[in-house]
Amino acid sequence: MPPLVPPPATISPQRSPVTTRRKQIYKGKTMDITSMAIIPLLLGSLGLFGLYRLLQRLRTRAYLQDAVVLITGATSGLGKECAKVFYAAGSQLVLCGRDRERLQDVVRELASMAKKTVKTHKPHAVTFDLSDTEAVASAVGEILKCVGHVDILINNAGISYRGTILDTEVDVDRTLMETNYFGPVALTKALLPSMIKKRSGHIVVISSVQGRISIPFRSAYAASKHATQAFFDCLRAEMQQYEIEVTVVSPGYIQTNLSLNAVTANGSRYGVMDKNTAEGRTPEDVAKVVLKAVGEKKKEVLVAGLLPTFAVYLRTLAPKLFFTLMAARAKKERKTKES
Ligand SMILES: NC(=O)c1ccc[n+]([C@@H]2O[C@H](COP(=O)([O-])OP(=O)(O)OC[C@H]3O[C@@H](n4cnc5c(N)ncnc54)[C@H](OP(=O)(O)O)[C@@H]3O)[C@@H](O)[C@H]2O)c1
Repeated sequence: MPPLVPPPATISPQRSPVTTRRKQIYKGKTMDITSMAIIPLLLGSLGLFGLYRLLQRLRTRAYLQDAVVLITGATSGLGKECAKVFYAAGSQLVLCGRDRERLQDVVRELASMAKKTVKTHKPHAVTFDLSDTEAVASAVGEILKCVGHVDILINNAGISYRGTILDTEVDVDRTLMETNYFGPVALTKALLPSMIKKRSGHIVVISSVQGRISIPFRSAYAASKHATQAFFDCLRAEMQQYEIEVTVVSPGYIQTNLSLNAVTANGSRYGVMDKNTAEGRTPEDVAKVVLKAVGEKKKEVLVAGLLPTFAVYLRTLAPKLFFTLMAARAKKERKTKES
């Protein structure tokens, strides 16, 4: 039987032109409001970031201007470049090394530097051997008598090493520890009392990626830098109560004379510019990183490329894989030497 009441007309899913137009206007308005909100938000954030960076720069400038900065190993490489950037920042430098003539050359080079935008100070040069604890103590006495106090100590001097553990005389291990570890420790300990008295100071140490990971045929060097990392990490915690900052800088390869000056298994000079060192970062770049890290009172900085940074994390997160890779590296290097 046909239905008595006709079925209600079905509503077409098609929107009327008026509804579509309204939706378009609504969408347009929403987009307007969104873009109106996003653009000022973006500009505001950029402005705030810019202001933050500006304040940071001003704070760094104030921190470094007239600060007494002692740099060890200032005769060459990274130390010399640190001398240049801290001098240009208006710090009063105490430059240390073993060779008076080379230190005087650096002083002359600084004096002839162009583009001085801030008031600079004539640096003092002090010679002593870091591996001689007594010489360190008497040098600190001389420095404090001369400049009164040290605001920032940059423990930069160091030597490297190449050799197999089996062939290396223990005296060579000792030499590395004396220069890279006991030297900075003695210098830091000699300066700490005057910093604690002032309740201010900043201790910086140039460690290495090899203070975080050990690579074959660098045992003595890696050990000295691991010890350095450990000592200065403890120092940071113990000095916080006196408001003394500690910054550990761990660079990867830098284009300096480090490999040329490295000692071998029998204590002789290695005298080879390694490919990795020659292709490393420039000391100028690393010195700028050091300056920034000090100015921003960073606790530690790893100045390395992707691969060394990855290796540092691998050592912690997947040690077995890291050990396998290091064993393979040792095997490969041994084969290259034998061939
Ligand atoms: N180059 C790299 O690839 C690399 C990578 C990571 C970390 N680092 C670290 O960076 C720091 C600076 O080294 P660099 O690369 O600039 O090497 P560099 O050009 O050989 O300079 C080393 C400096 O240390 C001084 N020094 C060495 N033994 C000393 C001692 N017994 N007493 C006093 N001063 C001594 C040297 O002074 P003299 O004039 O008296 O010899 C020289 O000024 C070192 O701690 C090193 O371990 C370097």
